[in-house]
Amino acid sequence: MGRGSLATGVNHLRGGSPLRQTRPASAGLVVSGSLPFRRVKLLVTGAAGFIGSTYVRLVGGEDEVRVLDKLTYAGRRENLPEGTELVVGAIEDPKVVREAMEGCDAVVNFAAESHVDRSIDDQDAFARTHVIGTGTLLDAARELGVGRYLQVSTDEVYGSIESGSFTETSPLDPSSPYSATKAAGDLLVSAHFHTYGIDASIVRGSNNYGPRQYPEKLIPLMVLNALHGDSLPVYGDGRQIRNWLFVEDFCRGIHTVLEKGKAGEAYNVGGPDECENIEVVKRVIELTDAEESLIEYVKDRPGHDRRYSLSSEKLKRDLGWQAEVHFAEGLERTVDWYRDNEEWWGPIRSGEYREYYEKQYGRALG
Ligand code: DAU
Repeated sequence: MGRGSLATGVNHLRGGSPLRQTRPASAGLVVSGSLPFRRVKLLVTGAAGFIGSTYVRLVGGEDEVRVLDKLTYAGRRENLPEGTELVVGAIEDPKVVREAMEGCDAVVNFAAESHVDRSIDDQDAFARTHVIGTGTLLDAARELGVGRYLQVSTDEVYGSIESGSFTETSPLDPSSPYSATKAAGDLLVSAHFHTYGIDASIVRGSNNYGPRQYPEKLIPLMVLNALHGDSLPVYGDGRQIRNWLFVEDFCRGIHTVLEKGKAGEAYNVGGPDECENIEVVKRVIELTDAEESLIEYVKDRPGHDRRYSLSSEKLKRDLGWQAEVHFAEGLERTVDWYRDNEEWWGPIRSGEYREYYEKQYGRALG
């Protein structure tokens, strides 16, 4: 199917249709057709997870949203606002995908296996979701004539960088099974743009943090362990650097690219601040009034990337996005959220996560 028929729906209004310009700047995407405006229907995959659910909360008031989520360990129904339309299924299942995508104007794909340590242990689910799943979504989008496709990806596809920052033209050089399979997904998106003319873009985010992040990740793990008096496992020398991005800033960046990004292009969305892991842990200790003696240096992650850093100049210059939340403020908000939301993390910390933690860290949670 050629580009012409794909460029219907959302897409041909993205360039600034008069209809769209009459709406307030905060309004969502608009499809043409009869007045009054029809709200755009978005299929948001993987939206029961941390970043996807934040995105649904951000755009749900403006656009109509349908979620497709497999509800794996990190995909939690309770992350979604009440009343969200949810189809339970995998993006690598063509039948479920076609049913879920029917009637949608655009697709935003958050569905991912996101944890590097789990990918080192077993890569299969990563390849299935990131490669087969992305390909399945792209095929269905083409066949159903969906107007726009956005792939949510990661800075890890560029690998590690000692100084300076990656731009969108930096070569892909992933180092873990997680990032290698994400890079493969990105390449499939480009291939579908070149081969079939699908209107697709890619966003690559740096390390996200904020409320509702599954506690296997550095920040929520350290916050919850500090609140419980459990040891704080720092990999290697703790001097690795990450480029921290508050999840709401990322979601605004994602929506900006969905609305205004060019087909066939990638956009980096990097956080405003970089920080060594050990400094992050010390800030968490301060914010939770924990003891510094809880810090425990443990065996390093195999193939551990030393530093991530993204340049977001393209997104700022071309589409006007800007990060709003600095790390100091975002981290405080995040720690407060975990302190106040035991009903969210309580069931997680006593379930699958406990087993994972014991296997990964060789000790039980307190
Ligand atoms: O850069 C974006 C990526 O950020 C996303 O694409 C990934 O899905 C996400 O998992 C994240 O990858 P990282 O490997 O950077 O995140 P993680 O929270 O696992 O680790 C952050 C840093 O903290 C990393 O240098 C490893 C270190 N670390 C992590 C854990 C869980 C520790 O020192 N101790 C720990 O227990």
